[in-house]
Amino acid sequence: MMRYGPMLGTLLALTVSFPALAQGNAPVSASSPDGSVTVEVKIVEDGRAAYSVTRKGKPVLTTSRLGFLFTDVVKLDRNLTITGQESRSVDETWEQPWGEWRTIRNRFNEVKVHFKEAKGPGRAFDVTFRVYDDGLGFRYEVPDQPAMRSANIAEELTEFTFASDGTAWWKPAFLWNREEYLYNKTPLSSVPTAATPVTIKLADGTHVALHEAALVDYSGMAVARTEGTTLRAQLTPGSGKAKVQKTGAWSTPWRTLIIADNAGGLYQSHLMLNLNEPNKLGDMSWFKPGKFNGVWWNMIKGEWTWARGPKHGATTENVKRYIDFAAANGIPNTLVEGWNVGWDGDWFGNGWDMDFTKPTEDFDAKFLADYAKKKGVRLIGHHETGGAVTHYDNQLDRSFKFAADHNYMVVKTGYVTDAGQLERVDADGTKHREWLDGQWMSNHFVRVAETAAKHKVAFDSHEPIKGTGLHRTYPNWVAREGMRGMEYNSWGAKNPPEHEANILFTRMLEGPMDFTPGVLSLTGENGSAILSTEAKQLALYVVIYSPVVMAADTPENYAKHPDTFKFIRDVPTDWEETRVLNGEVGDYATIARRVRGGKDWYVGAVSDENARTVDLAFDFLTPGVKYDAEIYRDGDDADYRTEKRHSVAIEKRVLTKADAMSIRIAPGGGFAIRLKARK
Ligand code: NOJ
Ligand code: CA
Repeated sequence: MMRYGPMLGTLLALTVSFPALAQGNAPVSASSPDGSVTVEVKIVEDGRAAYSVTRKGKPVLTTSRLGFLFTDVVKLDRNLTITGQESRSVDETWEQPWGEWRTIRNRFNEVKVHFKEAKGPGRAFDVTFRVYDDGLGFRYEVPDQPAMRSANIAEELTEFTFASDGTAWWKPAFLWNREEYLYNKTPLSSVPTAATPVTIKLADGTHVALHEAALVDYSGMAVARTEGTTLRAQLTPGSGKAKVQKTGAWSTPWRTLIIADNAGGLYQSHLMLNLNEPNKLGDMSWFKPGKFNGVWWNMIKGEWTWARGPKHGATTENVKRYIDFAAANGIPNTLVEGWNVGWDGDWFGNGWDMDFTKPTEDFDAKFLADYAKKKGVRLIGHHETGGAVTHYDNQLDRSFKFAADHNYMVVKTGYVTDAGQLERVDADGTKHREWLDGQWMSNHFVRVAETAAKHKVAFDSHEPIKGTGLHRTYPNWVAREGMRGMEYNSWGAKNPPEHEANILFTRMLEGPMDFTPGVLSLTGENGSAILSTEAKQLALYVVIYSPVVMAADTPENYAKHPDTFKFIRDVPTDWEETRVLNGEVGDYATIARRVRGGKDWYVGAVSDENARTVDLAFDFLTPGVKYDAEIYRDGDDADYRTEKRHSVAIEKRVLTKADAMSIRIAPGGGFAIRLKARK
């Protein structure tokens, strides 16, 4: 079986064009295949282009305007006419090389609306709307034209005017710590400037996630509230005056709205993946999803160092021990950080000393590559740029060659510096400071994907540009951080218990996250307590998806928790299908996943600081099959606030599709279930 996307279904595309209408301005509309979602596009006051969206006959977005502001020429948002439209429908099915679902159906109705200025420069542009049963995406497409040979975009004037107020989950944009802020829950009508995805529950219970897809050669979109319930695009700055520079024909990323009855419906949408281009890398069979351990948590806890010296973590001896542990426990990869020269000085915000082909003298790269191979383990390398991006670009090819030559299947990358401080140096020596989500960085990440792919290496970017579904196009971009992960459970202010239930319906809509779960010791820096039960750490392996998942704790700590560690050993990282069984944003969620190519299921549930009882029906199991269930739940006395956070009850049952069960989750807790099909 090839692991890259053969077209499985039939492609049905029907294109219908309508010439310019007599009056030029009759509204244009398109509905999703089942008719539930409809977009209407029209010209409003002052000749402005606007769109609105309804679902099941109820308004979701009311009149929301479109347009652009430039740094050098008059803005493009008035005196517009609709000069024509084209429609088509697509229904196709494609296969993911790895993921939460093997097959993805892409079924939409599309309308491309042609706009032209009736006065002034006479510039023309199109907006293409793809309408799905669970939302829509739209993008501007600007043809090359004498009236606009190039564009210096100061701001995109795209609006999202919600039909009612509601509750919004959002994190701030453009602050120094990049994407690593907790989610806020406020009325929609008091959101300030927010990074996307922003998740909104409208007054009538409809859930909407606002985000973007296929962010390439453009700057990332945050949103700023202008008034009432109107959010407007606010593009990420670049180093120049214009936030985006374009020449010839160009288009924007897709602006996306997933719309569903409930939180689970948002998670189950494939809209963002569908709005990305198909796999450009071809055969991906060389990449095997899997878990990893690694020389890491001791550094995050401050017990070891990335830099050389008496506490250096990545020594040959330590890494060998971690490889042994991986091999003994069926963990296929071992991460090594601090293995290369460049860490000794002040690397935060300055990675100019980093060299990803020069191991430190106490890290025997050749020996460890051979040793790991002998043990059936691959290494995960690490490229911490410290934000010196041009310096990384300059050594990109040889760094990934080194990785491939040393048995690395994956490289973890990092861009630790304050927002807006990434260092770019042009060929003529001119220095610039760039933003992670800016246009220049969007192109840098594609360079990394292509270079890594050339050497058959996958990558997992920390401090990344936000996820917009590009892992469909570049399936070697297997994971990213882009949120507060486990590392925050070591340092000062820990992630609160609601964190995972928040990110599941916000950050996780971007795609896989390298959260690094599994700290069964439940302790961070200086013995400080993590705000989680032990059972919840297991649940994270099912709930927080990534094809590469860390068993983040140390071998010594796992040795102290053999019973719960068994679940970490057993749980796979690649899935045939995924179902969100229940959940509310920021409160709780239960997810069931079927292993790829098999009948076994795994279930994970997480709660916030509140105890609750979850009713589970096992009707997703294969009919006629008996399952040996291993249930890891919070002990009756478990509580994240006390030492009883380690209290776990492990139960074995035989279950079938007809069974149901209620499971109590402790405050800050969760549960994990392995359902092994009997042969
Ligand atoms: C921050 C990353 O999130 C973490 O995983 C890594 O160990 C450090 N930077 C050092 O690169
Ligand atoms: Ca980080």
